[in-house]
Amino acid sequence: SGEGPLSGKTVLITAGPTREAVDPVRYLSNRSSGRMGFAVAEAAARAGAQVKLVTGPVHLPTPAGVERVDVETAEEMRQAVTDRAASADVFIAAAAVADYRVPRIAEHKLKKDTDGELHEIPLERNPDILAEVAAMTDKRPFSVGFAAETRDLEKHARKKLERKKLDLIAANLVGRDRGFDREENELLLLDQQGSQALGAGSKRALAGKLIAEIAARLDGEASS
Ligand code: C5P
Repeated sequence: SGEGPLSGKTVLITAGPTREAVDPVRYLSNRSSGRMGFAVAEAAARAGAQVKLVTGPVHLPTPAGVERVDVETAEEMRQAVTDRAASADVFIAAAAVADYRVPRIAEHKLKKDTDGELHEIPLERNPDILAEVAAMTDKRPFSVGFAAETRDLEKHARKKLERKKLDLIAANLVGRDRGFDREENELLLLDQQGSQALGAGSKRALAGKLIAEIAARLDGEASS
């Protein structure tokens, strides 16, 4: 923290995948590398913010000046976010939270021979962490989401903006050779005012642009 467009602000960020246990040795997860969220945390710190980064399991170094909280499951991520959301000015959800979890984690490793053929794993919905924060009625932070879509990017992202009642959403096309687990990305920003292409670039460069756009909107709120 220090000088910069976000000095005096606290920014809470989620990053990475979550990991949902099936039994002591197996889990459900996804291909998120955490790079976008970590780049956003680094950019926010460079902009002078006090940054808290709640991350699922990733192989990334903690950006300088960032307070990191490691979690594994969506429920742990939700708890870590809930504990910190009311003291944050901005919440940016860059984590790829697993949509489902296993309701009863087996105490012992599931066995093909004694537990039968393991064709089906029962699942239940995980909480939507971002929607919960955006629905806060007291001390609600400026709430920013990411939308990773394989098609109809703008349409699906705008639906998410409305449904989760977000202030801003950063949309990117994923799949094949784009998005997840890559250094490069391409973002489109959507809010109530309209849409704005941030273009293609490194996740680091795009994170800087996103943070600048968020800082400008906080300024707008303060002066209106
Ligand atoms: O609905 P979808 O998963 O596509 O929404 C993406 C956005 O919502 C991301 O910002 C993601 O971090 C957030 N999210 C969340 N908790 C969930 C699912 C998504 O915070 N359970």
